[in-house]
Amino acid sequence: MKEKIEQIKKDFTSELTSVDTEDSLENIRIKYFSRNGLFAQLFEDFKSLPKEEKPKFGQILNIEKQSAQQKFDEIKQKLESNSTDKAEYIDLSLPGREREIGNVHVLNQTLNEVKSIFKGLGFSIYTGPEIESDENNFEMLNFPDDHPARDMQDTYFLSESFLLRTHTSPVQVRLMKKHQPPYRAIMPGRVYRNEAISAKSYCLFHQLEGLVIDTNVTFAELKGTLVYFIKQLFGSDVKYRFRASFFPFTEPSAEVDIWWEPKGKEGKWLEILGCGMVDPNVLNNLKIDSEKYIGYAFGMGIERIAMLKYGIDDIRLFFDNDKRFLNQFK
Ligand code: PHE
Repeated sequence: MKEKIEQIKKDFTSELTSVDTEDSLENIRIKYFSRNGLFAQLFEDFKSLPKEEKPKFGQILNIEKQSAQQKFDEIKQKLESNSTDKAEYIDLSLPGREREIGNVHVLNQTLNEVKSIFKGLGFSIYTGPEIESDENNFEMLNFPDDHPARDMQDTYFLSESFLLRTHTSPVQVRLMKKHQPPYRAIMPGRVYRNEAISAKSYCLFHQLEGLVIDTNVTFAELKGTLVYFIKQLFGSDVKYRFRASFFPFTEPSAEVDIWWEPKGKEGKWLEILGCGMVDPNVLNNLKIDSEKYIGYAFGMGIERIAMLKYGIDDIRLFFDNDKRFLNQFK
């Protein structure tokens, strides 16, 4: 009995070490562990041993079988983990998987275009925070308390004296508070208005503001700059007009409209920006000598411009992040 066990153990170990496929492993399983396998036969032989030998051989048999089973399982696991079965099979002749590359959001594309036109005219870029004080957003810009002009912009107030900025004009205020003129800067940024959401208006949008202050700035220069800008953006034969308007912080003030005639539709004038000569009151509020300095400012909505440029008819599309919309601007 003892020799038989030793022999089987030896054979099993040598056969197991030379195994290299799942098939040959399966053959070993059948040979040793199946119902009629060699281990089963050993247990059969065990039954006919004399009584006094049973405890000793019973123990040896159990231990040997367990250890053999353990070795077998180890090899089996190893084989399985580096096997190339169907699920993992790599077909090198398949075409590669295309990786989808994102694109710059249409609003940023528009903003970048607008910025680069003004950069070409020597404007630098200045930015400020989206949470502003009432002072910077309104007071300094000549919107006194209780002034009806405050109703032009429905405001999200955060407290008595803080709010989400309703326009980028407070960035002008920040610039004037911090530095002395001359200035020639644009201020892009996100602004917020507490308006009913519709195809035409959203609770947030983007503006780009411009401010030029120096000792000899004229309304003619304002006009020249903006006309150049419009022509760069919409083409040199764009039809435009300056229309008198009102803003608390500019005097005189104007709005610029462009003639819009989509194919097959009736044309109309569409407002694209507001502008004017900086009101001396604003300069005085900010302790800038209004006898010495004069300047102009303008502001435009980036969504409005993108909508015109690309024929987009619903402002909400910019904020839905629907890839079917965004991918059209690759
Ligand atoms: N801040 C104004 C607005 O949001 C736009 C503007 C800016 C008008 C600068 C004139 C000069 O309506």
